[in-house]
Amino acid sequence: MPGLSGKRILLGVTGSIAAYKAADWLRSLVREEAVVTVAMTEAAERFVTPLTFSALSGQAVYRDMFADEPGRVMAHINLSREADAILVAPATAQTIARLAHGMADNLLSSVILAARIPVVICPAMNSFMLSHPATQGNIRRLESFGYHFVQPGSGKLACGEIGDGRLADWDAAREKLLSLFQPDDLKGQTVLITAGPTREALDPVRFLSNRSSGKMGFALARTARRRGAEVTLVAGPVQLPDPPGIEVVHVATAEEMRREVMDRAATADVVVKSAAVADFRPSVYANHKIKKSQQGLQLDLIKNPDILAELGAKRFKRQILVGFAAESRDHAGEGQRKLREKNVDLVVVNDIMGATTGFDVETNQVTLIDYGEAVTLPLLSKEETADRIWDKVLQLQNRPAGA
Ligand code: CTP
Repeated sequence: MPGLSGKRILLGVTGSIAAYKAADWLRSLVREEAVVTVAMTEAAERFVTPLTFSALSGQAVYRDMFADEPGRVMAHINLSREADAILVAPATAQTIARLAHGMADNLLSSVILAARIPVVICPAMNSFMLSHPATQGNIRRLESFGYHFVQPGSGKLACGEIGDGRLADWDAAREKLLSLFQPDDLKGQTVLITAGPTREALDPVRFLSNRSSGKMGFALARTARRRGAEVTLVAGPVQLPDPPGIEVVHVATAEEMRREVMDRAATADVVVKSAAVADFRPSVYANHKIKKSQQGLQLDLIKNPDILAELGAKRFKRQILVGFAAESRDHAGEGQRKLREKNVDLVVVNDIMGATTGFDVETNQVTLIDYGEAVTLPLLSKEETADRIWDKVLQLQNRPAGA
């Protein structure tokens, strides 16, 4: 089941002005078909009413330890038994202190104390409260218990201060939740991924490029991170947000991409080259806009470096090298040719002619070509495709020597 669909999340809302953002997070969870139950502290109710959360979740909101309505008795034990994970957002300094000291003086802290499921805490508070040694000590203590934290962001806070303490973006919290439901099987690995097109400038206004959206490469980066890898993403110009928890290096040209990749490749356990690198660039760059006064324009192009072939010629020890092949015909033949010519471990061939595969769509259908039998995957979301590619990479890493 993709994403958070079907996951049962207990959303704990505490008394920060950022409680209004929790309503939006709840909407995002429900949109993704997660099953969400909300528990609020008394202080949270000062900021947003329980009605908002019950209307958005379609379920009763839990507030009181001692409610005696049927079905709510023993809520402090049952709520966590009926969930897959607890998300505390926003988490105040007060709630963090309560949890760090095992206090059970309200419903939410009692639920968490009695819980045997993952707990994700998203702090939101004034920056001095956050940096205070008491809060920092409490956070470290909770981390030592195995609680997960989503780092707060930085910026202008509701109290007027500028600094750390803003509730993290939903994207970061979502990634953390998703990672809970994934195996940690890429933990300890450093992964280098390229994504998107490159742009080769003709003059200050124009460039040569291609239709790559970067979605496949970004999906590879997010899924690798969720599975525990340290990920660096070298991205050409794309319209996608930087994925949280990933070092993103933005480049424009093939030459820039080559430099950034070569600087990092030696230490990577896996390199995946999903970028659609421009094969050619204009031989001269016009410093001023080319005018249309002339009748026509002949462009003189020169070859760009082939980054994947260069990596294949070097072959760093024990590194798995994965290339992509964007093809419009003879997919298997072209995949086999690139596998051998570029000296890589795996080529992911995708059909760029289909309406649901290839450029700028959410799905893909690829064939995995290595030195064994080729495997054609079904039509999947790009994230599901990415997960299947990681499964294959792990299989290649674990193959017996000489195989
Ligand atoms: N690639 C690269 N540098 C280039 C061109 C391609 O690193 N200058 C990489 C791509 O990132 C991809 C693989 O090589 O992983 C294959 O790219 P593709 O565009 O399908 O093939 P080409 O090598 O350009 O070959 P052809 O033009 O014959 O299809």
